[in-house]
Amino acid sequence: MEHDLLGIRGLFPDGVAVVSGLVVGMGTGALLPEEEALVAECVDKRRQEFSAGRCCAREALGELGHTGGALLRSARGGVVWPEGYTGAISHTREFCAAVVGRRQDVTGLGLDLENIGRMSERIGARIMTDCERTWLTDQPPEEQNRLRTVFFCAKEAVYKCLSPITQGWIGYDDAHVTIDTAPQSLRIALSDKIAALLPEHARLEGRYLPTDHLMAAGVWLHIA
Ligand SMILES: CC(C)(COP(=O)(O)OP(=O)(O)OC[C@H]1O[C@@H](n2cnc3c(N)ncnc32)[C@H](O)[C@@H]1OP(=O)(O)O)[C@@H](O)C(=O)NCCC(=O)NCCS
Repeated sequence: MEHDLLGIRGLFPDGVAVVSGLVVGMGTGALLPEEEALVAECVDKRRQEFSAGRCCAREALGELGHTGGALLRSARGGVVWPEGYTGAISHTREFCAAVVGRRQDVTGLGLDLENIGRMSERIGARIMTDCERTWLTDQPPEEQNRLRTVFFCAKEAVYKCLSPITQGWIGYDDAHVTIDTAPQSLRIALSDKIAALLPEHARLEGRYLPTDHLMAAGVWLHIA
């Protein structure tokens, strides 16, 4: 397997492991019995993406020195990471990726992949704050769909990063995203309600990376 087929390693700081690849074929036969049980009733497509995601995650854990053990599902749908590790998984129809870090280096991680060009104005209106929408309106028209995808991807990544910590719903309005285009980075301001659930001095940072047809966003949480 190519370790980072999508070339998204640069989304994250040093010290975390990123593995990405094709969904088809990647995870075939890779599930442990406890993981297999989680998707036993699912259609093939779902089994395939689940296996590919677990396969990426296992390989990323291996890069950090952790081997073995089933990666079960948390009550909220995320992964139950081994003690001392955290991470995130994302898949599209074609691609899958996982990021994993040691908790001593990073408190939380989020990763999201989305196909570019599928983000309608209607979805944008649902996920963006007034301020984000105003900013987007001022951008070149030919860039707007791609940038709308960055907002979406960033917010999904924030959700994955924070949901295990906040143990609750994070609304799209709870993360105000500022997109810096050079370098391609994300500044994320959280609502007071969500910030209050995080440890003092918690800092959320992010980056995004468009590839040919795909947008990828990564976020990580540090306690300063
Ligand atoms: C859960 C959610 C983020 C998944 O994103 P998606 O784009 O549909 O799908 P992806 O392929 O990118 O990600 C799926 C993976 O996310 C992970 N995931 C699911 N729920 C999760 C949670 N609560 N916390 C962390 N990770 C989660 C899982 O690992 C899942 O893959 P798996 O089931 O194969 O293990 C999305 O469905 C969702 O509920 N979004 C709304 C919440 C939100 O974004 N609020 C606003 C935040 S500012």
